[in-house]
Amino acid sequence: MGLLYGCCLVVVTGPGREKGAWWLVIRVFPHIDNTKLMELFRKGVEGQWSAAQLDWERPILLDSHERQALAHVLTGVYLGEQTAMIGASSVIPQFFAAHQTEAQLYLATFLLDEARHFETLTRFYHKIDQRPLEVRDLKAIFRYQARLFKSRDKIEWLWGILLSDILARHFYSIIAKAHPNSLFAEIAGRILPDEARHLAFAELYLKATLTEKPELKPGFLKTRDELLFLMKAIYHGVREEAALIGLDGTLLFGSVEGDIEKKVRRLGMAEPEADEGE
Ligand SMILES: [Fe+2]
Ligand SMILES: [Fe+2]
Repeated sequence: MGLLYGCCLVVVTGPGREKGAWWLVIRVFPHIDNTKLMELFRKGVEGQWSAAQLDWERPILLDSHERQALAHVLTGVYLGEQTAMIGASSVIPQFFAAHQTEAQLYLATFLLDEARHFETLTRFYHKIDQRPLEVRDLKAIFRYQARLFKSRDKIEWLWGILLSDILARHFYSIIAKAHPNSLFAEIAGRILPDEARHLAFAELYLKATLTEKPELKPGFLKTRDELLFLMKAIYHGVREEAALIGLDGTLLFGSVEGDIEKKVRRLGMAEPEADEGE
């Protein structure tokens, strides 16, 4: 291991992907000129908050059955917050290797957002004295996470994250509206602007990538179908408890599918039939 300094390059030695490949070259002074990504990074930095700033004494406004129902129904989203954090940490090196500094900077704020969501929801579970479901109780959650982790490439990962964030956004909105002025509504109100930034980044980045690599589109549509199927399977497993806390599957998936199709069109992936009449 060692470092070699030049006028504008630093060579870092370390294990590469192939056997015997022990080098990686990076720029010391990279170009940071994608103003749209840097604007999202600035918003990400300025939008930071801490779980300690929440009013944890706010009323929970749920009876004991509703508390347990919310704890169970929230499980998929809760696990999704943690896996989004882990996924960001694993794709940042790919953006580094691709010399995309703006995306690395943005993802640092994304990672902290997801860490904060995970911490906040963990604290919420303790506050209502409940636990999430275990994977053995709802195997569709495991299959969903496994499908997301199957996407090791940064571009595929971003598409999976975009789909998951759309689901999370509607989930938080519907529960917050069903329980106004509650502690969970305050938590959802803090998380939602963060998720909106994540969606904006994913759309901005994917739009540029799909313009360059339109051959990725069919695979993306297949991933959409697989993840939507698994989202519905997760919901189906908790549908009775979801009804107890005001989460209606028809409303949830109507909104989720509508938003996903909007993204599909904006990213130029709409199938020919869907384009007709527009
Ligand atoms: Fe999140
Ligand atoms: Fe997110």
